[in-house]
Amino acid sequence: MLTKQDNDLMCRTGPDTAMGHAMRRFWLPVMHLSDLPPSGGDPKPVELLGEHFVAWRDEQGRAGLFSAYCLHRGASMVLAHAEGDGLRCIYHGWKFAVDGAVLDTPNVADPKFKERISGRTFPVREAGGLLWAYLGPKGEEPAFPHYPFMDQDDSHRINACAIANSNYVQVIEGLVDSSHLTVLHASGLAKTNGVELDFAKKTTHMQFEASPLIEADETDFGFHYVAIRSSGDKRMARIASFIAPCFVANPNGDLWFAVVPVNDERCNFFHVWWNADKKIGEEPLRTQQLAFVGLDEPTLAKYGMTAATCDGPDAMSWSNGYRQDRAQQRSGHFTGFDSFTQEDAACSVSAGAIRDRSQEMLSTADMAISRLYRSLLACAKAAREEQSMPALNVEVGRMISTSAEIGKDEDWRGLVPHHKIVSGNARPARAQ
Ligand code: FES
Ligand SMILES: [Fe+2]
Repeated sequence: MLTKQDNDLMCRTGPDTAMGHAMRRFWLPVMHLSDLPPSGGDPKPVELLGEHFVAWRDEQGRAGLFSAYCLHRGASMVLAHAEGDGLRCIYHGWKFAVDGAVLDTPNVADPKFKERISGRTFPVREAGGLLWAYLGPKGEEPAFPHYPFMDQDDSHRINACAIANSNYVQVIEGLVDSSHLTVLHASGLAKTNGVELDFAKKTTHMQFEASPLIEADETDFGFHYVAIRSSGDKRMARIASFIAPCFVANPNGDLWFAVVPVNDERCNFFHVWWNADKKIGEEPLRTQQLAFVGLDEPTLAKYGMTAATCDGPDAMSWSNGYRQDRAQQRSGHFTGFDSFTQEDAACSVSAGAIRDRSQEMLSTADMAISRLYRSLLACAKAAREEQSMPALNVEVGRMISTSAEIGKDEDWRGLVPHHKIVSGNARPARAQ
């Protein structure tokens, strides 16, 4: 439970908010590289943390992220003319390169004027199938993160994105909440038996235990938590990591998420799978994987979870019953949604655009949820009080999560010995 003030502090990420300032200190995924226009194409509108930008590639193939509002007098760069080495504003013709150099100011007689100013562009990187940007104070960008999926080429990686019409925190909550899996996804998990996909094989055991033992520790990158399920004398530990400010490494060990606010009431839910041995990025594996979890384009579009459909009538909402199929539910499916992604989104979206956490009743099953609140609030408060930002510049490459069988008295932390525990606040808890 949070006060309304803390809830706002944690959830709001616009340019004039504390959490917005915190988020802007980190490198954030903006979009799939496959959605970036080709060299010299039209600038692409992008909304991120409640601000408007355009993404573009110049004739040399350099990617750039520009403020959507021209440096001169604010006309939209969405309308700009793409001209080889820069974008030219259509109002008075000022032209900007992707690195912020001002290339031309045709309505100013002084040819030196353009050398004294610089355009509103932001540092970007391309890695792991994603365009990343740093939106914080100039010259203070942290080390660029290196995750294992960044070492894989497109054929060994799957990038997918669902748009959720809710605040970003609601989506992250679902990623650090092992106890919902057995309930919300019961029908999907029941279908994993015998399915050859790695994802199915790694999750099939979860259908058997609804109240896993949950423990969590604060770490230098955020926190990690475990869900331990018993089956006979076997104990299966699933460890997930939350990496500030909005990343989660799934216990399957080959799946990573970023939940990036588009604005306070919508987020991009990026998924990346990787496999060094299998060409999962190629057909038929790619589509099989995406369809199994409801991230294939037709299923996303059916629920208004793509860029083209998220403002349309199919987007899950109060007025359309969140697109739940009651007939399917009555005929035996637990939820009446197509797959995992839609079930998660329905729970996030239906709680309200920004969920009211002054009205919740957390239990011992929610230890990682309260740990998440503390991690996010620590970032927001550090930004508000201008103190050093937690988790900034932590080396994240080995923060990958894992799941494995452990012995009766074995400490699960032995599975992630490289995680640096900051505070020993772990308390054993059994979900009730
Ligand atoms: S507003 Fe863009 S050049 Fe004047
Ligand atoms: Fe889920």
